[in-house]
Amino acid sequence: MAEPATLDQGTAYGLAAASHDATLTEVGAGTPMGELLRRYWHPVGLAGDAGATPRQVRVLGEDLVLFRDGQGRPGLVHPRCAHRGASLWYGRVENVGIRCCYHGWLYSVDGHCLDQPCEPLGGALRGNVRQPWYPVEERYGLVYAYLGPPDRKPLLPRIDVLEVLAPGEQLETDDSSVGGGGPQVIPCNWLQHWENVVDSLHVPILHGTFSGQQFVPAMAQMPEVEWSATERGVRVLSWRTLDDGRRLRRVTEAAMPTLRVVPSPRLGRFGPVESIGWVLPIDDTHFRIYVAGRVTQPGDIGRMRSKMNGKFWWELSDDEHRQFPGDYEAQVSQGPITSHSREHLRSSDRGVALLRRFLHEQLRRVAAGEDPAGVARGPGADAMQRFADCGNFIVA
Ligand code: FES
Ligand SMILES: [Fe+2]
Repeated sequence: MAEPATLDQGTAYGLAAASHDATLTEVGAGTPMGELLRRYWHPVGLAGDAGATPRQVRVLGEDLVLFRDGQGRPGLVHPRCAHRGASLWYGRVENVGIRCCYHGWLYSVDGHCLDQPCEPLGGALRGNVRQPWYPVEERYGLVYAYLGPPDRKPLLPRIDVLEVLAPGEQLETDDSSVGGGGPQVIPCNWLQHWENVVDSLHVPILHGTFSGQQFVPAMAQMPEVEWSATERGVRVLSWRTLDDGRRLRRVTEAAMPTLRVVPSPRLGRFGPVESIGWVLPIDDTHFRIYVAGRVTQPGDIGRMRSKMNGKFWWELSDDEHRQFPGDYEAQVSQGPITSHSREHLRSSDRGVALLRRFLHEQLRRVAAGEDPAGVARGPGADAMQRFADCGNFIVA
């Protein structure tokens, strides 16, 4: 019998179970994306976070302990002591390493066991023990770690726009997850945020009109946008007309592994991008952002942070969060890991689609035994990443 024409269509009743693309989102050891991201250096702290007090850090689903020995060398080790498993977070940092609280085994920054004080002669066989560790290097005021296969370790990249300071500029770091629009640790999958970098048409809506002006009036304009896949990710060109009639060409990029190359949305000055952000996946459902940038005044990076209803995120009441949502509300409300099976991508999502396609290609390359995009490895390799053509530029 035919159904009545008035039958309700599209109700939520019987909705198919939601699912996400695990290969794109999950970052634990042994997962495809976890393996891809482990082919790159990631920031795990500010230089000052590596110190005489052991610090717990969580990176790509792994709990680790960061410290700096008395000789100034940063170290990153697995917390579970190789002897019988007490956490090195309770350890004491010494001149040449970190000493476990339980039986006093001492480990160098690269995991060599240097002393076993409960054993005769300080442990004649101590050389057989290695505390699991990861290589770390410092640059631009950040400590970077490499969690991948040792034979694939790339050079730690240099970034052109952070290499040269103009008169009056200084380098600044920020670990407050500025750009995330909320707290330091953001409770959703890292890719929801990274995709947002190339989601240029949310800017005039979410940041320009829906919650009032979060940046400056020009950013509320619906821009003309062009997306393109690059060798290292996805690039976005967006054009706007400023109040005085000049044309603004804004160039933004999402580049491997998790770089957010986003010129200031406050349009305070024009020219190459001032800062580079790294989206650090803490685990599958949390991320944070580290930033290094050229500033003229201390705190300039923090001043890029959007305000909702004239207030910072942490100043808003619960009801104001609902009324004046920003990036945090939009992205966290997509879910701990967004349900890709329920999305409906359209032309404005071209950047997102390109980025996912790009990531799938990098996953394929790693599975095939190749290096993924943007990896500079071996003597003479060019470790410079060039972003000077990203920025806010006046074209006429
Ligand atoms: S558990 Fe660390 S020294 Fe024994
Ligand atoms: Fe945003």
